[in-house]
Amino acid sequence: MDLDTLVSLCLNRGFIYPSSEIYGGIAGFWDYGPLGVEMRNNVKAAWWQTMVRERDDVVGLDSSIIANPETWVASGHVANFHDPMVDCRACKKRFRADQVDPADRCSASDNGEHDLTEPRQFNLMLRTQVGPAEESSAQVYLRAETCQSIFLDFKRVMTSARQKPPFGIAQIGKAFRNEITPRFFVFRSREFEQMEMEYFVHPDAGMDRFEAWRETRWRWLLDVGLDEARLRWHEHGADELAHYARAAYDVEFEFPFGWHELEGVHHRGDHDLRSHTEHSGKDLSYTDQETKERYTPHVVETSIGVDRCMLALLTSAYDTEEVKGEKRTVLRLSPRIAPYLAAVLPLSKKLSEPTGKLAAALRRRFSVDYDVSGAIGRRYRRQDEIGTPFCVTYDFDSEDDGKVTVRERDSMEQERIAIDAVEGYLSERVLA
Ligand code: GAP
Repeated sequence: MDLDTLVSLCLNRGFIYPSSEIYGGIAGFWDYGPLGVEMRNNVKAAWWQTMVRERDDVVGLDSSIIANPETWVASGHVANFHDPMVDCRACKKRFRADQVDPADRCSASDNGEHDLTEPRQFNLMLRTQVGPAEESSAQVYLRAETCQSIFLDFKRVMTSARQKPPFGIAQIGKAFRNEITPRFFVFRSREFEQMEMEYFVHPDAGMDRFEAWRETRWRWLLDVGLDEARLRWHEHGADELAHYARAAYDVEFEFPFGWHELEGVHHRGDHDLRSHTEHSGKDLSYTDQETKERYTPHVVETSIGVDRCMLALLTSAYDTEEVKGEKRTVLRLSPRIAPYLAAVLPLSKKLSEPTGKLAAALRRRFSVDYDVSGAIGRRYRRQDEIGTPFCVTYDFDSEDDGKVTVRERDSMEQERIAIDAVEGYLSERVLA
């Protein structure tokens, strides 16, 4: 499957659209449509469930997008968060110097070759002003990663949540980067969402925790339905490793445009808390009450983009097959992740009333579609294409025998079950 096929499915079925499309769009910004937002919420809920709710050593945070700008001086983003940029003198196109595609032809030169400038460093942080009067307002940054506020709030969270190392703080939220060349659909955007967790540990325990988090994250990626054959670890070599990092691995995924980073699991040492301590003058060290040892905790970070995760899930799930001489497109999304867990369908419009009641009852607990239009086979195909795992059909016998037909998306097998049992049937499968 190529990327264009996936983009067109996302556009036509209401997963993802270009932002402000009627004005020509804006590069690197995307809107999630009715199905996209349901799926996105499921991805975030699945992450939160594993990373926060099922653990007693990780707590959540939802910090502001704009922080005191000194944050970004201390983190090194103001000085170092740069990408090398080149311009074509002929066609005026702009590229990231390390990502000039040899196949990209120049429209303004005779030989189609770009006439590139020397690389210049370009800071990727998006800036804005805070304050009513232009002259007195402060320049601030839209956060480039969600984790910095976790470091700033480390002590407050630890104390108020009665935690102590080893413990973690998790956050899901928007991040912004003025990428020079946003590309590959939502893979590299200028506005995106991250799911990050920073785990604070005693320096001696850092490597063990790092390995444990690598395992936990790998398991989660499989649990939400990513194809294991498309996943691999990439260990940062000495040339890629940040100077402060003890170890770093990325999970790479085989997207339709090749292998690229999906998630990072990094052992950041004490760099973050130490930098903010030095820069703010506020002590972010920890004193163990039992041993009286005082130390700056080391940090193990797990960081994954919601948008990249969506793209990886859609890539893993997309399938086509021939059924009775016809092509069937099916998104084999896990029941936890699919936009709708079930579609409730009356066999005929005459059955709309009781079927509508069943749909309303199920909607109190699950995300459920109700579709009355078209032949039943066509309705099944529509649901297959958007990944709905179960179709529940109410037919003319349902009134008498109190049963409905449940069709499973992947096997297309059908079974008849009691109307009262549908809720239990769906709960069992969404939790499986
Ligand atoms: N706090 C560490 C950090 O931000 P990163 O590797 O720059 O590390 C972490 O970003 C994750 O955020 C990436 O693995 C990716 O999933 C996602 N991400 C980063 N830049 C992105 C972009 N421009 N568009 C979409 N997702 C992005």
